[in-house]
Amino acid sequence: MKVLICIGSSCHVRGSKDVIETFTRLTKEHRDVADIELSGSFCMGACSKGVSVKIRENIYHVKPGDAEDFFHEVILKEAGKCE
Ligand code: FES
Repeated sequence: MKVLICIGSSCHVRGSKDVIETFTRLTKEHRDVADIELSGSFCMGACSKGVSVKIRENIYHVKPGDAEDFFHEVILKEAGKCE
């Protein structure tokens, strides 16, 4: 499953680098149970609330401090669904 993380300037200021580092670490830790592909993305036009993360057609807003919880509660759950 593909996860796009915005690296546009607004999301960069809100901590996209930290979000990517957390997702990268957790993706490696869970590679046996979940097929997750992380990619950077340019601005998604949703700059106002936090780092934009797109999974399928949904855009979420993730704060660096919430990235670990988001990974477990949203990314792993979505990765378990059929594509
Ligand atoms: S810079 Fe990330 S959505 Fe615009």
